[in-house]
Amino acid sequence: MKSNDLSKTGSSHIRCDSLAIFVWFDKSNTSNAKGYYDSDDAQNFYNKIWAGEDELFHVGRYDLLTSEEKNVFPIEQQIRRAEELHELELMNKIRHYCLPSSETNFGLRVVDLGCGYGSLLRRLYKEGMIWKGTGVDISLKMCKEARKRNQIVAASNTIEILEQSYLQISVGNESVDVVISMDSLLHVGPERQRAVIKEVYRMLRPGGWMIFSDIMQNDNADSNEMQPIYDRLNLSNMGTISNYKSALEENGFANFTTDLHSDNISKHYGHVLDITQKKGHEIGLSDTYIKKAEVGLKVWKENSPGNIVWGIIAAQKTNKI
Ligand SMILES: C[S@@+](CC[C@H](N)C(=O)[O-])C[C@H]1O[C@@H](n2cnc3c(N)ncnc32)[C@H](O)[C@@H]1O
Repeated sequence: MKSNDLSKTGSSHIRCDSLAIFVWFDKSNTSNAKGYYDSDDAQNFYNKIWAGEDELFHVGRYDLLTSEEKNVFPIEQQIRRAEELHELELMNKIRHYCLPSSETNFGLRVVDLGCGYGSLLRRLYKEGMIWKGTGVDISLKMCKEARKRNQIVAASNTIEILEQSYLQISVGNESVDVVISMDSLLHVGPERQRAVIKEVYRMLRPGGWMIFSDIMQNDNADSNEMQPIYDRLNLSNMGTISNYKSALEENGFANFTTDLHSDNISKHYGHVLDITQKKGHEIGLSDTYIKKAEVGLKVWKENSPGNIVWGIIAAQKTNKI
């Protein structure tokens, strides 16, 4: 029988309170993401251009759109549908790895790292796949919005939202069946991603899974073409598949798999750029924000091919270190 313990355990909570200050206000990276995602312009952009009512804001699977969807849907609808398709892929993997049909189950204990508006947790909840969900996000505004949206679908008793860094989470040891994440870990760079893996290892029960999508760089990425992307992220480097693989294996994970669909990155940022140019002023984004967003989105669109890798990684905690 699984214990229903996703509560703030004494030791980890105290650890979190003291260390969170260091983590959140360390200028080298996490505070950059927090400040950015908490700004009014960014909220407006994600709410009205990228995420919309569907609450999604990650890269989409344009390669899975039907030819009818490609020909008939306006760009905005294609973005939403492609993002939805990515979420469905993640959901199917979670079901496949964590809910084998042979076992009776009562749903999963799930933690989502950098949950944003919490769309994936709510999707799993609506599918009856969650026993206890915890969304973790460093942005106050993301957390507020996620809580509001959970309330609307009566999910607040099942899904809690913690305004914390995923480098230090107040969730008990070995109290989680699966840790998920969508396009969020890129924000902390390769060294801190290794620290996140340790934190995931601590929270997962033996046999539990980490299943996540992320935007990474190729091992042989062109550093000149990558520099403007690093500048956007305020990082000196980005994570790689090999960095995740070694961090996972060194921390007692096995059954490592990847499912990569990197071509979608350039398409995605190109589409978001189109919509920003068409609608930015209409939805009240400032001139400064639009100009910055245009430069950033163009860099992602043009410099991703050959340099950026995107897809889903899965690995299982086996305890054999
Ligand atoms: C691109 S958004 C993805 C949101 C969500 N996973 C989704 O796909 O809709 C990245 C999210 O990661 C969060 N984030 C960035 N750094 C973080 C950190 N150190 N700890 C927790 N959340 C973080 C941001 O606040 C933002 O909500």
